[in-house]
Amino acid sequence: MHPQIPHESAVHHVTGEALYIDDLPSSPTTLTGRVVYSPHAHARIVSYDLSKAKNAHGVVAVLSANDIPGHNEMGPVVKDEPCLADGVVTFVGQAVFLIAAKSDAECRAAEKLIEIKYEPLKSILSIEDAIAANNILGPERTMQRGDAKAAFRTAPHVVEGELRTGAAEHWYLESQASLAVPGEGQEIAVYCGSQNPSETQTLVAEVLGVKKKDVLVEVRRIGGAFGGKETQGNHVACWSALLAHATRCPVKIRLFRDDDMIMTGKRHRFLTRYEAGFDDVGRLLAVRFELNSDAGAATDLSFAIMERAMFHCDNAYFVPHMTVLARVWKTNLPSNTAFRGFGGPQGMAAMEAIIDRVARFLQKDPAEIRKTNFYGLEASNVTHYGQTVENNRLHLMFDQLMQSSEYAARRKAVAEFNASHEFYKKGIALTPVKFGISFTTTFLNQAGALVNIYNDGTVLVNHGGIEMGQGLHTKMQQIAAAELGISVDRVRVNATNTSKVPNTSATAASSGTDMNGAAVKNATDILKGRIAEGVAAFFNEKRPTVPTSAEDIRFEDDTIFDVRHTDRRIGFAEAMPQMVLRRISLSSTGYFRTPGIGWDKAKGVGTPFRYYAFGMAVSEVLVDTLTGAVTLLRTDILHDAGDSINPAIDIGQIEGGYIQGVGWCTTEEIKWDRDGNLMTHSPDTYKIPTAKDVPADFRVNLLEHATNPNAIHGSKTVAEPPFMLSLSTWLAIKDAVSAVGGHATEPEFSLPATNEVVLLSIEKLRSQMKEGASRKVSV
Ligand code: MTE
Ligand code: HPA
Ligand code: MOS
Repeated sequence: MHPQIPHESAVHHVTGEALYIDDLPSSPTTLTGRVVYSPHAHARIVSYDLSKAKNAHGVVAVLSANDIPGHNEMGPVVKDEPCLADGVVTFVGQAVFLIAAKSDAECRAAEKLIEIKYEPLKSILSIEDAIAANNILGPERTMQRGDAKAAFRTAPHVVEGELRTGAAEHWYLESQASLAVPGEGQEIAVYCGSQNPSETQTLVAEVLGVKKKDVLVEVRRIGGAFGGKETQGNHVACWSALLAHATRCPVKIRLFRDDDMIMTGKRHRFLTRYEAGFDDVGRLLAVRFELNSDAGAATDLSFAIMERAMFHCDNAYFVPHMTVLARVWKTNLPSNTAFRGFGGPQGMAAMEAIIDRVARFLQKDPAEIRKTNFYGLEASNVTHYGQTVENNRLHLMFDQLMQSSEYAARRKAVAEFNASHEFYKKGIALTPVKFGISFTTTFLNQAGALVNIYNDGTVLVNHGGIEMGQGLHTKMQQIAAAELGISVDRVRVNATNTSKVPNTSATAASSGTDMNGAAVKNATDILKGRIAEGVAAFFNEKRPTVPTSAEDIRFEDDTIFDVRHTDRRIGFAEAMPQMVLRRISLSSTGYFRTPGIGWDKAKGVGTPFRYYAFGMAVSEVLVDTLTGAVTLLRTDILHDAGDSINPAIDIGQIEGGYIQGVGWCTTEEIKWDRDGNLMTHSPDTYKIPTAKDVPADFRVNLLEHATNPNAIHGSKTVAEPPFMLSLSTWLAIKDAVSAVGGHATEPEFSLPATNEVVLLSIEKLRSQMKEGASRKVSV
C-alpha cells in the first residue's frame, strides 16, 4: 500500500542541513545560558551571595529560586521537583542558579564568582541503603493472580534468587538544549528538544506565572531522546525561558555533554528478588517477584515505570499463580526517568533469568523451556492482570526463528566447540518479547492533528508527535499521502508546534505512529468528505443528467474521480482551486482516542493495552574466559511489525533498539562514587556500543503476513520492543560462562554483564570446580 521512501530528513541528516537547537539562527541579542548545579548529593544551602557574579563582565542576569516569577515546581506527576533548588539540594547536578551572559566563557567566569555555603547532610545512594532507611516513595503496590504461596508448597521444584539490573545513560547525540525567545508583552516562544511540548508549555507557563496562550513551544526534530526527553527536556526549556523572561533577550542553553550526563536521570536501577516453582518439564507453576527500583531524588515517571515493569515481568509466559510486589525507593541521585522499554526491560530480565535457571536446573535447553511456557493460543492466554493475549504470534515466530536461525545445529556446534576449547567458550540463547502497546496511564492515549491543503494541491500535516529519529514524520507523510491518494512529495510534515495542535501527550510508549497516524487519518477523512461534495458538484455542473454522488468519489494516483463514471476525473492539484472558488474549507483538525482499553489501578486488573507487539531473537557469542571479553558472533531477529508502513525504517528501529539494549546488557555501567558524584560522565568512561560492536552476522527480518487489526493501516509499532531482544545476548553470554562449569553450576550473573562481571563469574566457577576436585581427591 505504501510506496517505500527514505526517512524524510535523511538527506538533511547527512548533509548537515537538518536544524537542531544549536543550529537555529541567533540574533545579535541572543545570550548564552548556563546552569550552576549542586556539587553535593544532599546538603542544606546555608547562604549565598550572587553580587560579584552579577557584576562580572558580559553578565546580564544571575537567577536563583527567589527570582522565579511563578511556581518553582516542575514535577510532571507529583510536585516534588523544584526548577531551581530552594534551601536544600538533593543530588549532585541539581540546578541551583542560572546565568545569562554574552558568551559561554563569560558565564563560566561568572560562575566562579558565585559564593555559596552548603552544610552537607547524610545521603542515600543505593537501593539497599534506601531500603535500610525505609526511604520509600509512595505506597508499595501489588498485582496478584491465584495463590502463589500455596503453589510453592506443592511445586516439585523451587528456585529463589536476586537480580540487579543497572542504570543507563540515554546518550542521545543532541544533548539537552533550548532557545527561548521573548515576544511582545508576556509572549514567549521556546524551541527545544522535548518529547512532550504540551507539558513543556504548561511548565514554562507555570514557572513564568503566565498563561498557556502566551507560551509557544516548537520542536522541529530531536537528535535522539529515547525517553530522556519525555519529562527531562522540560528543565532546560524552563531554565532558558526564565532567563529570557528576566533579560528580555533570546537565551540559548545547550548542556555540555558531561553536564548533561551528571544532571539528568537515567534508566531506573532495579533490585529484584524472585521465587519460582516449576514441575519436571519446566512448566512454571508459581512466581513471586519483589521489584525494587531506584527513583532518584524525585518522583518523575517512577510509578508509571514501575507499573510497566509489573505488567511485563511475565514477559511471554503464562504463570498460573503470580504475585508481584513493587516498591519505589528514593535516593540522592538525579531523578531517574523514562528510557526505551519504560520498566519493561527490568521486569523481563528477571523473568528471563528465572527461565534460564529452570533450564539449567533441569539440564534442558532454555529454548524448550521458553516454548513450554509461552502464552497459549486458546487456553492459558490470560496475563496476571487479566488481559487476554490476542493474536498471539509467539508460537509461529518461535517455529520460524528456530528454523531460520538453524538453532538446533548451532546449539550442537556450540557444545562441540566448548568441548574442544578450554579458554574460549561460546554461548547461544533465544529470547522472546511480548510488549503491551498503549500508555498505561489511560487518559494519555489520545492524539490530535491539523491538516492543511493549499490551493496548489500541496499538503502540510501538523500532528502532536515528535520526530526524534524514529521516522514518525515519514510515516505521517506516507499515511496522509495514501489517504489523499497523492504522491508523498506533495506532503510535508511541519515542526511540532503547540499553537497548531494543543493538549497532546508525549511521543512515548511506542504509540506515536498508531495514535498520530489515526488522528491524521481522521483529518484527511473529514477533508475528503468535503472535497468529494465539491468535486461531485463540479462534475455535475458539466453533466447534470447523470449526476455523480459524493459517495462515488475516489482519491487515487493524484486524481479525484467518479468510480461509476471513470471518465469524470480531475487532477488533485487542479481540483483544489475549484474547492476554494466553492468556498470549501481545506483545513481540518483530526483527533483519535485509543478504543477498548481501561483497567482498575487499585485492583491491578483489566485491559491496559490495545495490543501486544512480539519479537524474538537468537544470539550467539564468544567469550574469552581469561579476560572476560565478549564478541557478538551472530544475531537473528524476527520481529512483528504488522503490515509495515516503512520496512526500512522499521528494520532500522529493530537494529538500533537491539544494539541499544546490548549496551545496557553488556558495557554500559554507571558508577557513582561514595559522595554521589557520577564517575562515568563522558564517553571515555562510559561505553556505548559502536559499529564495531554490532554482531558480525546480523540478520533482521519482519514477520510476513502479519496484519494488525488494532492499528493504522494494519501496521504495528516497532519503537521500544526490540530493545528487550538484547536479553538474548545477555543470556548467550551467561550460557558461555556456564559452559566453563560444564553447565552443572548456576553462574553468578548480573546486568550489565561487563567484562568484570563475566570474569568474576568465571573465576568463581573455576574455584568451585577446583574445590570440588580437591574434595574428591581427599575423600
Ligand atoms: N528511535 C530513535 N532514532 N530515536 C529515539 O529517540 N526513541 C524510542 C523509539 N525509537 C527513539 C527511537 C522510544 S523510547 C520511543 S517511546 C519511540 O521511539 C517513540 O516514537 P514512536 O512512538 O513514534 O515510535
Ligand atoms: N510509557 C511511556 N510513558 C508513559 C507511560 C508509558 O506506559 N505511562 C505514562 N507515561
Ligand atoms: Mo519511550 S521510553 O516511551 O520515550
